[in-house]
Amino acid sequence: MKVQIKPGFLFPTQFWTAELNENIKQLQNEAYLIRKNDKDGVRKSNSGSNGYHSKDIRDLTNLPGTNQLLNQIINAVNAIHQISRKGELQLTNFWINISGKGSSNTPHTHSGLTYSGVFFIRVPKEMKGGRFLFYRNFNEADFISTEYMGHFKEDYQMQGFDYPINTVSPKENMLIVFPAWLPHAVEINLSDEERISLSFNFKLNRSFSRMK
Ligand SMILES: [Fe+2]
Repeated sequence: MKVQIKPGFLFPTQFWTAELNENIKQLQNEAYLIRKNDKDGVRKSNSGSNGYHSKDIRDLTNLPGTNQLLNQIINAVNAIHQISRKGELQLTNFWINISGKGSSNTPHTHSGLTYSGVFFIRVPKEMKGGRFLFYRNFNEADFISTEYMGHFKEDYQMQGFDYPINTVSPKENMLIVFPAWLPHAVEINLSDEERISLSFNFKLNRSFSRMK
């Protein structure tokens, strides 16, 4: 008897993108102002001597473009959340990354939070590397795609669900939002130009009313 094998999918993961219409030049200037006022920044997932990661930004007094961008991000993430869920979201923190040649961000998650995301303020004109990477699983994060492809037969056409890594090519004014638990990273910037992004986290306020 011929056995019928049925393929299925477990845990498909949603993420969201949007193209905003922010004043990119102003945001670039404000990013350099943030770095000027917080030269040391912090070391987190940023790797390479040319990778700047600001501290969490708490004062938007001289950053009107960034302030407006955050309002757009809050609207977008609330709209995403409220498609299917209840509860109040709270923007918990945000920071910028200025990534020079040779810098990258190693795989990590923003665990304990609800949504995370990134907005691209500057993307090199001739972008080499610097793509945003999503990993299905940390255990697969060491595979580079060509090695991984070696695990398949030569004539096999890879499907989207076979990939352990998915890439998104950044564009200026592009917003990406994803679940905070999803492992992600940034490829090494191989371009001579800097790449600038603003990242953020949202947390769900779980104090909504319970049934009595
Ligand atoms: Fe991150």
